[in-house]
Amino acid sequence: MALLDVRDLGVVFKRKGTRPFTAVDGVSFSVEPGQTVGLVGESGSGKSVTSLALMGLLPKRGAEISGSVTFEDTELLTLSDKQLRDRRGRDLGMVFQDPLSSLNPVITIGLQITEVLERHRGMSRKEARVEAAELLDRVGLPDPQRRLDEYPHQHSGGMRQRVLIAIALACRPKLLIADEPTTALDVTIQAQILSLLSDLVSETDTALIMITHDLGIVAGLCDNVNVMYGGRIVERAARHDLFERSRHPYTHGLLQSIPRLNAPRGEPLTPIRGSVSDNIEWEQGCAFAPRCPNATDVCWSEPPELKADDGRMLRCHNPVALGDAVTEGAL
Ligand SMILES: Nc1ncnc2c1ncn2[C@@H]1O[C@H](COP(=O)(O)OP(=O)(O)O)[C@@H](O)[C@H]1O
Ligand SMILES: [Mg+2]
Repeated sequence: MALLDVRDLGVVFKRKGTRPFTAVDGVSFSVEPGQTVGLVGESGSGKSVTSLALMGLLPKRGAEISGSVTFEDTELLTLSDKQLRDRRGRDLGMVFQDPLSSLNPVITIGLQITEVLERHRGMSRKEARVEAAELLDRVGLPDPQRRLDEYPHQHSGGMRQRVLIAIALACRPKLLIADEPTTALDVTIQAQILSLLSDLVSETDTALIMITHDLGIVAGLCDNVNVMYGGRIVERAARHDLFERSRHPYTHGLLQSIPRLNAPRGEPLTPIRGSVSDNIEWEQGCAFAPRCPNATDVCWSEPPELKADDGRMLRCHNPVALGDAVTEGAL
């Protein structure tokens, strides 16, 4: 049975005087216990709104949420704020992009961790302090005892992200959602944080939803990958299938815009032309049509459905021919 089951999730932002904006549209996916699932797409494709909606963290006013999100046997979308807060603290952890704004600047790192341990795992202050030092040690912070009494600003971005991961794991969540956890960090630190995350989730059998605009990140981490475009999932496949033969022209384009180590010297990268602002409405046709090299008349006039195709889910009238796919070895 799935740990998390997202069915037909929709989020429409409505503000007085503006046209309603559909940020997430009919998104369905599930996460098995211990599995790592990727949610990938360009900035603005609806990844963060999806994760905030399923964690119950979108503002009540102005955001209309539809569909269903079940975690184990509980429907999350209809829980009260208090029930949801409790559930979040206990079973669902989250790591955000910006580690500084997620930490309280005027409270020591130790207190920010022990607070969680006392509230959600019923520890005494003393027990919590011991456990907090252990957690900091596990996320690779040297001299954890001393760190406990320090403040967030005394640490670098990479260190702060380690602290946030420690806090997220403090409750031993069954599911961790990491939203662009390394985007704000240096490239060398990114790799360390990713391998740390990957080690921790496999050691503790925690399921992970990895949200990123970077296909290179999911290549090394995820069992299953959902590619989002304009608020909808356009392709979903097992990692290997996706990288071996991506079928959606958007996924294909993303893969071709990743620098490859074995590319001939001087070979230019092929970026996807245009930007998300060129999208047409999904109601009208395929939102990606204006940027798509494969687009034909049907793409401009008929919204493609998400359908099983070639061992994956695909929303496309004119998928990439099999012979044209980029191979995983190329990454
Ligand atoms: N609170 C909000 N009110 C109105 N529009 C929003 C709000 N939050 C996000 N959006 C819009 O929803 C779309 C998806 O945003 P987001 O999920 O943050 O994208 P990303 O894939 O980069 O995480 C964007 O066009 C964004 O401008
Ligand atoms: Mg985002």
